[in-house]
Amino acid sequence: MFDTHTHLCHRSFRADREQTFERAREAGVNLMLEISWDLRSSEETVRFAEEHEGVWVAAGYHPHDAKDAPGNYLQRLEALAKHPKVKAIGEIGLDYYRDLSPRDVQKRVFAEQIELAGELKLPMVIHCRNAMDEVLPIVEEHGYWRGVFHSAAADKEQADKIVQMGFYLGINGTITYNGKRAKSWIPLIPRERLLIETDCPYLTPVPHRGERNEPGYVRYVAEAVADVLETSVEEIAELTESNGRNLFDIEA
Ligand code: NI
Repeated sequence: MFDTHTHLCHRSFRADREQTFERAREAGVNLMLEISWDLRSSEETVRFAEEHEGVWVAAGYHPHDAKDAPGNYLQRLEALAKHPKVKAIGEIGLDYYRDLSPRDVQKRVFAEQIELAGELKLPMVIHCRNAMDEVLPIVEEHGYWRGVFHSAAADKEQADKIVQMGFYLGINGTITYNGKRAKSWIPLIPRERLLIETDCPYLTPVPHRGERNEPGYVRYVAEAVADVLETSVEEIAELTESNGRNLFDIEA
């Protein structure tokens, strides 16, 4: 299985990162995309990936941290992104739910990183919370439409639009929370655009909700997707791994 959104370099894994990684391996997670949120974490995730087979990296500035991006952050990200373990720019986007950076700064840093991803021909991992009406026009305007909308909290109309533009959708543990409404649009997404992810340590799926999330729990997401699509976990595991390899250009 390919967990396409992990934060094992988050401080909550500091004490047991290796054990968590091993548990994921035992649970059948052979691939992970480790997601960064600023320059320091981008360096850390690259180091972690260098030491672990099957771990790949998205480097970038999260909207929460956009306000702290130094003046030369684009040059530094670009240099980092040339590392062979870096397969995406992310996570980038807008978060108008927590608003931890001023909105104009979020928009500028997002737009600049879309440009960077386009220049480097790397897919983007897009974070969008309470801001879909602003994210879509910014992406459209920049004309570079390769990547995944992670934690896809979209309604049907937005999901349609995202798919039409060529993006993938990342499904995570929230699919196990609230019944039918959140899942109703999943069967409408072309199967070759579906990815699964944990976003660990956040968004822990049932039956572990309330605990810290970890990559091994991506199995519960695969089970929920299999349930909605009335197919087997094995098929979803295989499908989403192959989709992830395609998007992030990782050879089998
Ligand atoms: Ni994340």
